Amino acid sequence: MTDSVGVSLLGAGNVGAAVLSALIKDTERNNQLVGTKLELRYVLVRDIKKHDKKFKDVNFTKNFNDVLNDEHTSIIVELMGGQVPAKEYIASLLKKGKHVVTANKDVMAQSGSELTDLAVKHGASIRYEASVGGGIPIIGPLSRDLLANEIFSISGIINGTTNYMLSLMFQEKMSYQNALLKAQQSGYAEPDPYNDVQGIDAAYKLAILCGLAFHVDVDPGSIFCQGISSIELKDLNYADELGYVIKLLARAELIDNKITCIVCPTLISKQEPLSKVDGVLNAIQLQGNLVGQVIFEGPGAGASATSSAILGDVIDAAKNIKYSFSNLNNAQLNKIEVSNSENFISRYYLRLNVVDESGVLAAISGIMSEHQISIASVIQTEADQESQTAQLVLITHEANRGKIDSAINSIKKEKKVDSVVNLLPIID
Ligand code: NAP
Ligand code: HSE
Repeated sequence: MTDSVGVSLLGAGNVGAAVLSALIKDTERNNQLVGTKLELRYVLVRDIKKHDKKFKDVNFTKNFNDVLNDEHTSIIVELMGGQVPAKEYIASLLKKGKHVVTANKDVMAQSGSELTDLAVKHGASIRYEASVGGGIPIIGPLSRDLLANEIFSISGIINGTTNYMLSLMFQEKMSYQNALLKAQQSGYAEPDPYNDVQGIDAAYKLAILCGLAFHVDVDPGSIFCQGISSIELKDLNYADELGYVIKLLARAELIDNKITCIVCPTLISKQEPLSKVDGVLNAIQLQGNLVGQVIFEGPGAGASATSSAILGDVIDAAKNIKYSFSNLNNAQLNKIEVSNSENFISRYYLRLNVVDESGVLAAISGIMSEHQISIASVIQTEADQESQTAQLVLITHEANRGKIDSAINSIKKEKKVDSVVNLLPIID
């Protein structure tokens, strides 16, 4: 039996500080759960002065080698974020047979298989529950409890920052910039929030989920990705009027042995469970051949919720050190082609600014018809006195994304169209 298990942290920022506090506060409870003592060893940071007043007895270091070469550290929790130097540090630790827990979706989406293989080769392990959905258990269920299922589809609100922002923009009429600032102040956003608002963070998480659900590597760079920066209160209000809410939705569907992946703001019918997921909450809906539909919902970002997932992984890793080793193995069972988003079929919401002249509607519906796209409904506002443009909102029947994109290209060339503001898919 092991006398103690040494734990070191890389990073003590938003999430790292919450993990550190919980490790210190809940020592007795964690020791009982593990069946041995969890001993806090080193905490790697860039600037020790920022941290050592709050955590007086903690051994902070700026030197990664202190962690790497510490014989008593068995579990390392990586909470620095970003690719560099996080990936290289994780790889070095795994090569030494250390067990890694990480919340880093950038690294796991791009190098998850490589790092898992490295872990297996060196008798180590890598756990990453906190990398998707913050505090929601989803990596564990996909890796174990749902493993017998053939998964057909994943639909998820998997970025807390953008969901929180869209909720504030609609419910409190807050500006985009103020909503982003509030998300940053609440500790939800990434250190550089570009990845959040552009949908890249959600694409990373979708790639991780696809790896586990479909047993394939999906390159996150190949996922069609549209962020929320073009969404205005007008869009949220039009959607509301039509019976929908707008959410940044990540979707992957398995059709004819091809996966279509897409991340974009989407109109979701108010009847759908995902439409009710507001604020920092995330939700992931899966369809499996045996289980049918399951939905996992909970806080998708925030230090405390995320620390729940991380500490669960730490305790599990420590128990495994005591009893045996296990990996969340990202087994590559399938050869599935990742299909182009051109094949993505949906109803669409299209908002345009048009010149207030006769024949505009006829010109646009002519273009739509040339591309075999059928219009289901139209809203047109009175022209704005100053700009002399009117808002035109079109709802289409189901259409293929490739056809919609080529129709939009033609619409953009139409003189009577001032601008194409938003094109968003709809879920009824
Ligand atoms: P953060 O507040 O920016 O903290 C990063 C920490 O890492 C800081 O303590 C920083 O040190 C340290 N660090 C960064 N680069 C370093 C380097 N090169 N050498 C040494 N230390 C370094 O980030 P966070 O919000 O806690 O996020 C951490 C990770 O959790 C990210 O992968 C993020 O995607 C993931 N995550 C976050 C959330 C959330 O709600 N925030 C939820 C799920 C997952 P200093 O403090 O000295 O600068
Ligand atoms: N920035 C991320 C989000 C943190 O807002 O969802 C959780 O992964």
